[in-house]
Amino acid sequence: MKRDLVSLGDWSTQEIWEVLELAAHLKREHRAGVRHDHILRGKTLAMVFQKPSLRTRVSFEVGMWQLGGYALYLGPEDIKLGQRETVEDVALNLSRYVDGIMARVFGHEVVEELARFATVPVINGLSDLLHPCQALADVLTIWEKKRRLSGLTLAFIGDGNNVANSLIEASAKLGMHFRIACPEGHEPNARIVAEARALGAEIAILRDPKEAAKDADVLYTDVWTSMGQEAQAELRRKKFQGYTVSLELLSFAKPDCLVMHCLPAHYGEEITYEAARSRNSVIFDQAENRLHAQKAVLALLLGGRS
Ligand code: CP
Ligand code: NVA
Repeated sequence: MKRDLVSLGDWSTQEIWEVLELAAHLKREHRAGVRHDHILRGKTLAMVFQKPSLRTRVSFEVGMWQLGGYALYLGPEDIKLGQRETVEDVALNLSRYVDGIMARVFGHEVVEELARFATVPVINGLSDLLHPCQALADVLTIWEKKRRLSGLTLAFIGDGNNVANSLIEASAKLGMHFRIACPEGHEPNARIVAEARALGAEIAILRDPKEAAKDADVLYTDVWTSMGQEAQAELRRKKFQGYTVSLELLSFAKPDCLVMHCLPAHYGEEITYEAARSRNSVIFDQAENRLHAQKAVLALLLGGRS
């Protein structure tokens, strides 16, 4: 049976820990100069993008290379997913050529449909609803810095978007407490919040960033306007005034609080440059950990070890 990574909600706590432990192992060995190019030798990953990317594209492409495989970039203009031919036919065709598909899409149903029809594993490289690879890299980063996850409080400041939704799913599976401070109408997905609460997770939806930041172990933020929402940018800039991770907001959190951002950042909007470059910031560790976390996912899903 093939295994996909469409949503962390579909993965068990044990499966998530399997990725984190393998990622930490691969990272340690990689830094020590150990080569891992036997793991996916001869395997190919199709990377389908409906949206732009720096980190996702580079970390998946480099990750496949380091594991001995090959990654094929298919940009928005190449296959015109769902326009030139159906998502079902794209999934069925790609499955005859490649050993895995990573897709960055607008509608979440597109990545779900790819997973349903593909006979090879499908990895969600971001949809309008979720960003599971980001959340895996983030919890790997928190685990490295804090040596634990369970019982920590992650405070998310800003939009209840794809990154926030995946962090809620990860928090629920790993025993972290999640708080968000967001303007009305920008709450995270209600079904995801309800499912996390049903697992026993503490999820708080607040309005006041200071209340959310109070004694937090992690202060996390993301852009106010996500890809695909550009027409609302001006309106969002007004609505999200005050939802900024700054050194002042950081002073409400624990002294060793981690400042996190999935990047790209809009400095001066959701985060100040000073907060992003502060001693507490781990934003580039997060970016690096995309590589290590995804190599673990690729090894487990494409390497026949699952
Ligand atoms: N964080 C992240 O997914 O970055 P990209 O959009 O550059 O891939
Ligand atoms: N929420 C952002 C994340 C980018 C990595 C977006 O969807 O554009």
